[in-house]
Amino acid sequence: MGILEGKKALVFGVASNLSIAYGIAKQLKAEGADVALSYAAVHEKRVKPIAEELGSTFVEECDLSSDEAIDSLVNKYEEKFGKIDIIVHSVAFASREALSGRFMEVTRDDFLVSMNISVYTLIAVVKKFERIMSDDASVITLTYYGSEKVVPNYNVMGVAKAALEATVRYLAVDLGKTGKRINAVSAGPIKTLSAAGIAGFKSMLSSNEPRIPLGRNVDIDDCGNLAAFLLSPKAKNITGSVVYVDGGFNITAM
Ligand SMILES: NC(=O)c1ccc[n+]([C@@H]2O[C@H](COP(=O)([O-])OP(=O)(O)OC[C@H]3O[C@@H](n4cnc5c(N)ncnc54)[C@H](O)[C@@H]3O)[C@@H](O)[C@H]2O)c1
Repeated sequence: MGILEGKKALVFGVASNLSIAYGIAKQLKAEGADVALSYAAVHEKRVKPIAEELGSTFVEECDLSSDEAIDSLVNKYEEKFGKIDIIVHSVAFASREALSGRFMEVTRDDFLVSMNISVYTLIAVVKKFERIMSDDASVITLTYYGSEKVVPNYNVMGVAKAALEATVRYLAVDLGKTGKRINAVSAGPIKTLSAAGIAGFKSMLSSNEPRIPLGRNVDIDDCGNLAAFLLSPKAKNITGSVVYVDGGFNITAM
């Protein structure tokens, strides 16, 4: 029997079969969860076959920059499932211009958009779904080491990820009062649609490899395995944490 048997999960952020959210959704399903998907409209064509593969009966478009859209999603989910046990937030955005060159050139608009989509959407989702969360509900989001150290071209996303990790800590205290949990998975670099927007991403993957203690980059299945554990009762006393799946890269200096 899987560690998530009988759990009802909603995964945000599947854009394609390269998405970290897809790796997580697959693993949640393999561990016995009923996996629902919510996606951004532009990815509809790629999401539909993935939903079929996962046997998802709830597949809803939702633009997370809209409070009304999230409210409507909560109502639809409640109508179908009643309560929710698991939420996966695997969502971020920054304009391509903001992901190259000097960090300080970021415009006010680009800064606000990246904070809105990459950070506030987590707060909005947790706040609005809290009403229908089961007593031991668990949430995860995705972060990256560029929150702590300067990674060339990661720029405004580094600042957004620092805010996201702080948000996880504050949400953990709010949710903890009723036994619910939230954690962040900090993944090493993986080639996805979003990652392709970061200048020099490809060379980062190859040039990093010799410094990784385990000598290899991670993949979306590694993220899925860690996510399944954090979202399961086996992690019942873990909350507010940033947990790495990066082959150990974050512990090294040179
Ligand atoms: N790929 C990496 O190297 C890496 C490493 C660490 C962390 N992460 C993080 O993992 C998460 C998933 O990214 P990914 O690499 O799988 O790329 P991805 O492009 O597959 O996923 C990003 C998702 O965000 C969604 N999104 C953006 N704006 C949205 C909106 N307004 N409403 C709803 N959804 C919206 C997109 O539709 C997409 O599904 C992100 O938070 C990313 O920062 C990625």
